[in-house]
Amino acid sequence: MRILVTGGAGFIGSNLGCHLLGDKPHESGLHVESVVTLDKLTYAGHLPALNDVAHDPRHHFIHGDVCDSATVADVLREHRINAVMHLASESHVDRSIENPEDFVMTNYVGTYRLLEAFRCHLVKNGGGDRNLFLHVSTDEVFGTLDPGDPPFDEDSPYAPNSPYSASKAGSDHMARAYHRTYGLPVITTHCSNNYGPWQHSEKLIPHMIRMALCGRPLPVYGDGSQVRDWIHVSDHCRALATVLARGVPGRTYVIGGNCEIRNIDLVRQIVEILNELAPDRVTRPADELIAFVADRPGHDCRYALDPSRITRELGWRAIVDFQAGLRGTVQWYLDHPELL
Ligand SMILES: NC(=O)c1ccc[n+]([C@@H]2O[C@H](COP(=O)([O-])OP(=O)(O)OC[C@H]3O[C@@H](n4cnc5c(N)ncnc54)[C@H](O)[C@@H]3O)[C@@H](O)[C@H]2O)c1
Repeated sequence: MRILVTGGAGFIGSNLGCHLLGDKPHESGLHVESVVTLDKLTYAGHLPALNDVAHDPRHHFIHGDVCDSATVADVLREHRINAVMHLASESHVDRSIENPEDFVMTNYVGTYRLLEAFRCHLVKNGGGDRNLFLHVSTDEVFGTLDPGDPPFDEDSPYAPNSPYSASKAGSDHMARAYHRTYGLPVITTHCSNNYGPWQHSEKLIPHMIRMALCGRPLPVYGDGSQVRDWIHVSDHCRALATVLARGVPGRTYVIGGNCEIRNIDLVRQIVEILNELAPDRVTRPADELIAFVADRPGHDCRYALDPSRITRELGWRAIVDFQAGLRGTVQWYLDHPELL
């Protein structure tokens, strides 16, 4: 496949590009001819994250905006793209509360422009190969769960609570409409919270590592009882490759790590691991470092996902053990302090 990865210099996109061009995608039944990374390089984009594929002749980087229809059309044509993996996004909930505009533009308008450009591209050049638009969404579009509720699955109703999740929900609906109205081969995935290398330092895990290493208070929203499902980014990338290879157009898949953790417990675990791996740098126990701060407005209480469909139909399951994955992630940030 000749694949366009949008947002490919971001956290998940860069891990995905390296995965697609590594030696594993054939395990998902995928034959990768080329990968084109299209990224606007906002504050969240980081080109060094693609260093592992920088000299691979199958990889091309293009600096551009998914909202720019002319650029997107050129890329699709010149690189004879037959699959789009759409990850370009404004992704930080706190920023969406302060400035929703960028989220509406990139997440909603940008997705619409990309869908339309891909539709026109297939009308002119489609046929033959498997063509696919893989729209990468989030579990946050389903809103929040109470403690005893069953986890979200593909049939859960939409109930987004933040400007971020609302902009993603809007883009999901547009992607669905392009499938239903124009027959565009679209698949949407909903993943839970990712962790791993190259995540921007504003996100929970790297942020806590940075604060702990500086000896500064670890800010935990509310009472820290919010529950999230965590998945290692490598498991998410394997899932996306599997969906690209064998997913059914028009279908949606939830991708979860079967790993629900309260925020407060996650922060404690991070400090414990730092105490082990860098005992000379973190000198106070977690409970002395943690500082409870005013809760985020509209903060969702719990996310959990039931990934039975993708396991049953496509044979994918998360394989990275959370303790091992978190430890590896903390070590990775200790080895890359410039990214904190
Ligand atoms: N990180 C998670 O835990 C998580 C979980 C579920 C779903 N997702 C989804 O996965 C996708 C990737 O998330 P991430 O965590 O890697 O995000 P990220 O913020 O780390 O990366 C986003 C990338 O998109 C690029 N970008 C932003 N606006 C753009 C535009 N207009 N045109 C082109 N590129 C643009 C940025 O430069 C950056 O490289 C998003 O769609 C997000 O909603 C993320």
